[in-house]
Amino acid sequence: MKPYLCRVIENRILWADAQLLIFDAPDPSTSSGQGLARALRPGQFALARDATTREPYLRRALWLYQTEETRVAFTLPAHDPLVARVRVGDLLDLLAPLGRVIEFGANARRILLIGEGTRVAQLIALAHAAITQAREVVLVNRGENIFPAHLLSPEIEYRADDALSAELIAWADAIVASGSSELYRALAEAIRAARYRLEPGFARVIVDAPMPCGDGLCYACAVETTRGIKLACADGPAFDLIELERKH
Ligand code: FES
Repeated sequence: MKPYLCRVIENRILWADAQLLIFDAPDPSTSSGQGLARALRPGQFALARDATTREPYLRRALWLYQTEETRVAFTLPAHDPLVARVRVGDLLDLLAPLGRVIEFGANARRILLIGEGTRVAQLIALAHAAITQAREVVLVNRGENIFPAHLLSPEIEYRADDALSAELIAWADAIVASGSSELYRALAEAIRAARYRLEPGFARVIVDAPMPCGDGLCYACAVETTRGIKLACADGPAFDLIELERKH
């Protein structure tokens, strides 16, 4: 993780109440060109603050949405105080990359991604990365505020129906979900019903926790797991469902 000073080139609604912040993020501090866009991987996030003010006082979590050459797009809730403050042309102070990368094993050819409402935004970079790795991807958006299909690669099979269907769960080699703890409970039950047991490593879920420091220092993001207390910022924010589901 390192600091980046990045200029905002877009600040707009992506859809519903999901905001898109796009930065032009060249990194002049390295001659190798290993800038922010290259440092970030699906599943990771950045912490941002306006270096000129203490409003908002704590850094805000930005979720990786897309990278393109030196540009990096993140999503965050449209009601976040940072959204109202930031103007195109502003420089923001970012810490990144944070969190563990979500990766799939070589045998995981069929990927099921389940997002609830606008939490699906946290899965879009992962969906596109899996397609470039020649995996099959089904992305299911549950609930209201369905993600606009035209923003997805046509190779991604996009559904807004029953994310927990036995057929889909039996089809998948790996699942990643982003949503409420109710969704995660229901997902664990549906997996046990469709596949008889929940195997370690089969399903990962993204925990929604405040992450003000991002560095394992404040413990604001502590998550109770079957393997003890873990930190969403350092050990997650994606955790194996089997480590969490009995704790919900
Ligand atoms: S955000 Fe401070 S310990 Fe995780």
